[in-house]
Amino acid sequence: MAILFDSTSRLFTLETNHSMYQMKADRYGVLLHTWFGMKGSVFDYSYLISYADRGFSGNPYEAEDERTYSLDVLPQEYPTYGSGDYRSSALKVRYPDGTTACELRYAGHKTLEGKYALPGLPAIYATEDTKADTLVITLEDTRHCFYVHLYYGVLEELDMITRSVRIENHSDAEIYLENVQSTCIDYLHGEFDLHTFYGRHVKERNYQRMTLRHGIQSVGSTRGTSSHQYNPFLILSGEDTTEENGSCYGFSFLYSGDFLGTAEYDQYNQTRILLGIHPDNFCYCVKPGESFYAPEVAMAYSHNGLGELSRIYHKAYRNHLCRGKWTATRRPVLLNSWEGIYFDFNGEKLVKMAKDAAELGVELFVMDDGWFGKRELDVSGLGDWIVNEKKLGCTLGELSDQIHDLGMQFGIWFEPEGINEDSDLYRAHPDWALQVPGKSPCRSRQQLLLDFSREDVRDYIFSHICQVLDSAKIEYLKWDLNRSLSDLYSALLPADRQGEVAHRFVLGLYDMLEKLTQRYPDMLIEGCSGGGGRFDAGMLYYTPQIWCSDDTDAIERLSIQYGTSFGYPVSTMGSHVSKCPNEQTGRNTPINTRATVAMSGTFGYELDVNEMSEEDKSIVRSQIDEFKKYYDLIQYGDYYRLTNPDTAESYHGWEFAAADGSEALLCIVALQIHPNGPGCWMKVKGLKPDSIYTVDGKEYPGDVLMNGGLLLPAATEEYESFRIHIVEKMGI
Ligand code: DGJ
Repeated sequence: MAILFDSTSRLFTLETNHSMYQMKADRYGVLLHTWFGMKGSVFDYSYLISYADRGFSGNPYEAEDERTYSLDVLPQEYPTYGSGDYRSSALKVRYPDGTTACELRYAGHKTLEGKYALPGLPAIYATEDTKADTLVITLEDTRHCFYVHLYYGVLEELDMITRSVRIENHSDAEIYLENVQSTCIDYLHGEFDLHTFYGRHVKERNYQRMTLRHGIQSVGSTRGTSSHQYNPFLILSGEDTTEENGSCYGFSFLYSGDFLGTAEYDQYNQTRILLGIHPDNFCYCVKPGESFYAPEVAMAYSHNGLGELSRIYHKAYRNHLCRGKWTATRRPVLLNSWEGIYFDFNGEKLVKMAKDAAELGVELFVMDDGWFGKRELDVSGLGDWIVNEKKLGCTLGELSDQIHDLGMQFGIWFEPEGINEDSDLYRAHPDWALQVPGKSPCRSRQQLLLDFSREDVRDYIFSHICQVLDSAKIEYLKWDLNRSLSDLYSALLPADRQGEVAHRFVLGLYDMLEKLTQRYPDMLIEGCSGGGGRFDAGMLYYTPQIWCSDDTDAIERLSIQYGTSFGYPVSTMGSHVSKCPNEQTGRNTPINTRATVAMSGTFGYELDVNEMSEEDKSIVRSQIDEFKKYYDLIQYGDYYRLTNPDTAESYHGWEFAAADGSEALLCIVALQIHPNGPGCWMKVKGLKPDSIYTVDGKEYPGDVLMNGGLLLPAATEEYESFRIHIVEKMGI
């Protein structure tokens, strides 16, 4: 077992293949955090803690006159609010008497074989070939009201440690959770950089690296979704850590709602990292005998730089977070109707579009927004999941049959959480929308949201979605959400439980997605929230791919997909070739470049094939063939970031290398073109140093390609791209 416990020193050591995590219940029963980092000797790392009499950092009562013992300074596993640790805390509870001062002490622990699961929440899972163990450490609050069960999942081969928390009320009165963070890591020393991913609609997950300064630096969302603005994935690294060298830690939140990621650099140059549900929209009542589960955080450590850290997440998320048939089966190349024709379609037009696409080798046709209710534009109809047969000119079954007759699969768009005031559903059930009685709600895209915390509302929507799905042969579903939450109020909850709405909304979403995946296990579901507004590890548990951004411009996508790649594999990134000039930026890029970028994702098209030149159509045919040829390498290979598109001078590159080093695909985009410019080289990664490789008919030793690099072809056209296949020569 990868979990070691020394009962004399009450020391817990968790080991993965390359990392180690350690905690210690000290003499007062405080659970100290003593190590997270490189694997080494199993030794009590608490020797690193310095004890000194610190002014204005008080001492717990049981420490009596031991003025050098202060929770304000000690590295702790789960620090609480109100009892002398003045840093950001992991837990704030309102007791029945209205007070919030809380202290926790070690009460026991147990180890279990296998990886724990969380009721109603996504969680990393182990498979038969992946060893996993669980440690549950129980802390009790010193007022004997509740237990805090800290869950640790240790996935040795994946080099991943997961954390979650269960708060169990064992008193006879209600307690209110005002803040429950899912993880806390205290670092005794070190100068750190914090890496975060910020953005906005049509520009998600921009990469940002900053040196931690004294004080609190945080990212988060109070939008009810994980958001376009900040992603629930953080990296902490050494100041000199690069793609290939140095230490770094990843913190990924498996949750799709409000979150807060905090880094506090304190008075003694110690760093505390916290990640969990954002407390602003959160106050959860736990009744006697009941428990609250905090969502999971997946943590990883690498001492070989950011690239290796990303690959740890890629592997874990591909095989131990995403579920179902589509994790291991090649996904169809699709054509989505949205940017091609928006709302302007009927059945005939769709079939023509599908036919044109089928002739190019596209395998799945997706009918996006506009097929239901009164939905001619984005201002009405949401909530009325009834096929608009008048618009289509046929039933959905008939449309789907026509698409299938072309040899294609058929997919369809929904926005299950959305509701327009101009809909039959709203007219019948205005109280089903999130809005506060007596206050006009905030509209966004002229729509509201349904109260997904309510089971009756979800049941209604679920049954209507199923009626549609059962009426035709449908292999793919796009689950969209086009606004942030506001006006949080649920008609079914009492006043003191309104603080639960945002979290219950997410639980409701997960509940419905779980039902959907169970009822339609073979259906490919793509998540979406106005592009990448809910691109998070929580959603990936239900939808193995997520539309990365509504920005389909290939050059903009370089940064978006680059930022996304830090925490998520390319197999999860919805990416399409769209028309030029691009709808969002007006930019022209070669169709080859648009494919280079889209292939580094799920790959599909989003344009009207009818408007394409014959030359472009024949290029598309060969792109689809090429994507199929490289599918395994791209989707399951090791991903390397070679440059940063925001700082690269002329060429931006990334690479997919087979895990056994037998081949690699180098993807290069010329960002700038200069007459009489300098030469450009790219160092290849992940090859076998002693093997010989063939590139465009020439032979090179692996070590030469990795050390000296490959001389890149000179670009002759703006934004030209190159896909360079590097293959190990057989029989040597
Ligand atoms: C936002 C999505 O990101 C788009 O791809 C498209 O599905 C529209 N919604 C439809 O309303």
